[in-house]
Amino acid sequence: MAYRGADLIVLGVGVMIGAGIFSLAARQAANMAGPGVILSFMIAGITSLLVAFCFAELSSAMPSSGSAYTFAYVIFGEVWAWIVGWALVLELLLATAAVARAWSLYAAQMLTDLGVRLPEVIAGMVGQTTGFDLFTLFILAILTAVVALGARVGLRTLWVIVVAKLLAIGAVIVIGALHFDQRNLAAIPVPAVPAGKAEEALHSPLLGLLLGQTGTFGWFGIFAASAAITFAYIGFDVVATAAEESEDAPRSIPKGIIRGLVLTTVIYIAVAVIMVGMTPYDKIAADAPLASAFREAGEGFMVHVINIGAVLGLTTVVLVLLVGLTRVLFSMARDGLIPRSLSKINRSYRSPTRVTLIIGFLAILLAEFVDVLTLEPLVVIGALFVFIAVAGGVVRMRQTMPDLPRGFRTPLSPGVPIASILACLWLMVNLQLITWLYFIIWMAFGVLVYLVYGRRNSVLATTARPVPETPARPSPGQYQYGPGDGRTDPPWPPGPPGPPGGPGGPGPGSTAGPRGRHRR
Ligand code: ALA
Repeated sequence: MAYRGADLIVLGVGVMIGAGIFSLAARQAANMAGPGVILSFMIAGITSLLVAFCFAELSSAMPSSGSAYTFAYVIFGEVWAWIVGWALVLELLLATAAVARAWSLYAAQMLTDLGVRLPEVIAGMVGQTTGFDLFTLFILAILTAVVALGARVGLRTLWVIVVAKLLAIGAVIVIGALHFDQRNLAAIPVPAVPAGKAEEALHSPLLGLLLGQTGTFGWFGIFAASAAITFAYIGFDVVATAAEESEDAPRSIPKGIIRGLVLTTVIYIAVAVIMVGMTPYDKIAADAPLASAFREAGEGFMVHVINIGAVLGLTTVVLVLLVGLTRVLFSMARDGLIPRSLSKINRSYRSPTRVTLIIGFLAILLAEFVDVLTLEPLVVIGALFVFIAVAGGVVRMRQTMPDLPRGFRTPLSPGVPIASILACLWLMVNLQLITWLYFIIWMAFGVLVYLVYGRRNSVLATTARPVPETPARPSPGQYQYGPGDGRTDPPWPPGPPGPPGGPGGPGPGSTAGPRGRHRR
């Protein structure tokens, strides 16, 4: 079944609203920004909206399941495509693992609050922030199987879960408003403190270190929290990976991305206002944050509502992230940058079972053996890097392919793309030094993988077709996103072909690729 306009909004809300609002927001309020977390949500939301315009334009011109990876391929060539794809893998894989952990925390909390007593041997293995965790394994294994077996969780199921999640959040806003006390919103003037020893420096925002000042709360805290809270908005970009399965993708995807994001931003700001308005920020517990504010206010029933809403909500986040990552890696395999066998479609399940199982396995390894909850900023830096590439792609594509048909045009270009780049850079410098170091290591490793494998085995490297020096200006209908290697597998996802006369996905039988037209 192809996604229609409203389905894409549900998809966006399904993947965005999760750990960011159910766990991270309150932690940032308690430790970083206090009531200023409302501003943090606004800053991260505006940045995401600017970037969403750019995603909207590129996905309307190139509705491909590879999303930013494919945009980079077409606009900047193979090397940049690999780099962007590598950052996307970091973003989506780590986010999947981190949200699965958050799922376990909430599932365990839900059972405890409902008075369910698990056998002692199991109780010690669920709801753990680090170390082996049974619930994390359970949710990742189940959802990987669902995606791998092509047992598509029907759109209707997605709708039901997302509506349930929204009802829980609606209850948070309405009941929370009854306990709203504006005195809790009073500003907290905490002076920045000088950067300290090496250990502290590693965990200080880069900006603070550059300016010789770090600290929490005040403007430094608000900006640092904005960067962390960008995690909550991650997912609007994943909507673009549904392009090959959407009706009238050049128009429906841009609307889906932007409307889903606007709705989510409004919800986040409302929840943030309520959260810090109903409880003094220093009384919000770090372990079950949103629920704790209600427990504190004596709304025991709401604790269950939040627990159930979070468990359902986080389930759709993990599911859609897994699906999105499958599509990106499938596209990379189609181009030969990772083993092409990973783009094989299992004929029985009509799904790229192999790549899905590998992703699931890696997500389980990460979630079980790495302290992923502390690595959420690494997800953010990977995403912001991708966002910058996409915004840069809009500027470049306006120059190199001005006539390429687009279902959506970024307003005020190049102003908005440039503002997006600056806003993303600003958030990036507000991330901790250690996050930067991990990111540099990850990207350096990626470049090595490209040099050792991708460069030699890619479709570009192995096809005899000549590659022109500069990209030819495509004409309407010229883009197809087939593999270009004559594979005989059925196309996947088996989405509808693009609209007549416009760019589109690999409709049934499409195998010819545009790679000969790509610039290296
Ligand atoms: N935005 C998603 C979440 O907050 C990743 O869980």
